Amino acid sequence: MKGKYYIITLGCQKNEYDSQLISALLKSCGYEKTEEITETDILVINTCSIRDKADVKVYGRLGQYRELKKLKPNLITIVSGCLAQKDGKKLLGRFPNVNIVVGPRNISSIPYLVEYVQRTGKRRALCELGDMNFEVMPVDRDRSFSAWIPVTEGCDNRCTYCIVPYVRGAMVSRPLEHIMKEAEEFVNSGGLEITLLGQNVNAYGKDKPEYGSFNDILKKINNLKGIERIRFMSPHPANFDDKFVETMASLEHVCRHIHLPLQSGDDTILRRMGRRYTTQDYASIVEKLRQAMPEIAITTDIIVGFPGETNEQFENTMSFVKQMNFDGAFMFAYSEREGTPAVKINPSVPPQERLDRLNKLIEMQNNITFEKHKKLEGSEALVLVETLSKKDGEFVTGKTDKKTVVNFTGDSSLIGKIVKVKLEKAFTWGFMGKFISD
Ligand code: SAH
Ligand code: SF4
Ligand code: F3S
Repeated sequence: MKGKYYIITLGCQKNEYDSQLISALLKSCGYEKTEEITETDILVINTCSIRDKADVKVYGRLGQYRELKKLKPNLITIVSGCLAQKDGKKLLGRFPNVNIVVGPRNISSIPYLVEYVQRTGKRRALCELGDMNFEVMPVDRDRSFSAWIPVTEGCDNRCTYCIVPYVRGAMVSRPLEHIMKEAEEFVNSGGLEITLLGQNVNAYGKDKPEYGSFNDILKKINNLKGIERIRFMSPHPANFDDKFVETMASLEHVCRHIHLPLQSGDDTILRRMGRRYTTQDYASIVEKLRQAMPEIAITTDIIVGFPGETNEQFENTMSFVKQMNFDGAFMFAYSEREGTPAVKINPSVPPQERLDRLNKLIEMQNNITFEKHKKLEGSEALVLVETLSKKDGEFVTGKTDKKTVVNFTGDSSLIGKIVKVKLEKAFTWGFMGKFISD
């Protein structure tokens, strides 16, 4: 054993997957994972930069971990992920305790970089958005029954508010055989749930038509023996077609849930965001999905306070969101990302106004979510049990097919199983349930 490593993951699912790759890479070089940060020889901070708050969180952590270097003079601190890509070398200047800065497309160089730092005592930033080398690398998953599997890296959409295309680069599809190799190995080792990841999953193959389409991936994974649940995040409304709805509806293991980011319920704002669809296009997709799969849960992402958003345009979002009757939503106040086109749009919405609009939207959507849950009180659902509940060791927590959270009394023997549960009491966050049977 060469030493220990500790990984802090601050971003989205793709960022979590990258942490699993980093973990497997460090293991393969002879390091051992630790849960005790003060014991670690290598500290990895895998960062996000989607909103200003994410940046502030990383800077806070980096300051906080300065002290660790005093305890462990040979500690190697690695900053990886999207903020690493955005700030690159600047991070080395600002934080003398950071030894390595590495971008999302350079993860596989981490063993080399660690060895380089140990050998020379120098510090290094490697943030190249060149070609993506999609080897099938080992993955160190937190859960044996559930896997993230990326289908693309990067994004070609360039929504005007978004930093992702700048920090993750242009979209590159992953070869279908690599996706299937990872999926097969996972399912053959007892895996139950696969979540396919990409910034715009249904654009899969647009850069490499010979790989096939996203529908092909869904069909192939649906055929794997042992797979129970297939999820994906996120599709983009502009890349939607009827064939996709048909395919989804025809595959028994694809969960009856879709996360379909809306961003705004006002057509002028949607155009300024560069989203390439209107509210009418969006409503028609939702109608088709609900027609083909009446039980489907639809969740979304919304940004309020985009530059130039008037109160009337915000009210359009309020009424469109109400009309769509979403099962849930992630709602955000717009955050300026330097270098993106939206920062030049005038006038900006004052930060307090953004927060007021956000709170108003959250309150309305939470009521809708709660009412929808309330209607399901007393019904039964199949729940994939994920962990012991954080709050209370007597409870386990898991998710339904529709990705609704359910907590119920149970012990760790249920983790990784799909069990029948009665949804006894509805909350906005999900349900308190009662175990019925295996
Ligand atoms: N690729 C996904 C979203 C990735 S980012 C998609 O397009 O569907 C997740 C969410 O963060 C976005 O859907 C958006 O709602 C939000 N977001 C992105 N940039 C933002 C910004 N500058 N300010 C506030 N929210 C933002
Ligand atoms: Fe960002 Fe738009 Fe790409 Fe999503 S689709 S990652 S919001 S640019
Ligand atoms: Fe994900 Fe944050 Fe990067 S949302 S893609 S880790 S900017």
